[in-house]
Amino acid sequence: MTGPVTDAPSRAIWDALYAEGNHAPIAPYTDIIAFLARSFARDGQGRKVLEIGCGTAQNLLFANWSMGFEVYGVDYSETAITQARAQFRGKGLSYGALEVADATRLDFPDSHFDAVVERGAAQHNRLAVARAILAEMRRVLKPGGVLCCSLAAEGHFLFGQGTHLGEGDFFNGEHDGTRHFFSRRDVLDLFAGMEITRWMLHSRQDVPGNRMVEQYHVVEARKPA
Ligand SMILES: C[S@@+](CC[C@H](N)C(=O)[O-])C[C@H]1O[C@@H](n2cnc3c(N)ncnc32)[C@H](O)[C@@H]1O
Repeated sequence: MTGPVTDAPSRAIWDALYAEGNHAPIAPYTDIIAFLARSFARDGQGRKVLEIGCGTAQNLLFANWSMGFEVYGVDYSETAITQARAQFRGKGLSYGALEVADATRLDFPDSHFDAVVERGAAQHNRLAVARAILAEMRRVLKPGGVLCCSLAAEGHFLFGQGTHLGEGDFFNGEHDGTRHFFSRRDVLDLFAGMEITRWMLHSRQDVPGNRMVEQYHVVEARKPA
């Protein structure tokens, strides 16, 4: 096998989190839904969207149910994909595909999707693996297609915790395994060759505790036509 590979401990951690019901489907994430609405004028009919690291697929469920997209999702947690399929079945909805797969090796043809999204998945890998994931997301996106990523930033409260694996890379067994915290330079490198159409740094603060909790780069980009 060549190229960067995903680490097995993190995969096992995610599978256990889903099995314990700790990452149960609750609601879609506004960053992803707002991006799809902005990009397609709220009309997903006839459009294919893929989510990398879709988990239990609450984003895809909304994209299909409320927006009409044909949806596809991959996640390396088998338990997550089982729960994702059950959600669609439970609502009598259909999907293009929901498959167990490593996001660095997607079994989809080149230039296949109108939109490819990920929320909080690429960041759960070392930077080299995140780069490989971005390359795959870009490969399967149609020319002129759009992409949205949500990536932990260096101001995230978990930055620096756990075992330091490399620049910006940490393994935190107390939380959810491997994570890369993206600098602005990382983001620019990751999206080189694509047109960044929107880039927001979202910070969440625990007000009573007076401390910063989460911080993410939310990056939207277009593949050159
Ligand atoms: C924070 S959860 C986000 C789940 C979903 N995107 C959401 O918005 O609720 C991160 C997900 O990414 C998946 N993941 C992380 N690295 C992956 C990889 N290399 N290949 C496939 N899935 C991956 C995990 O199994 C987990 O389901």
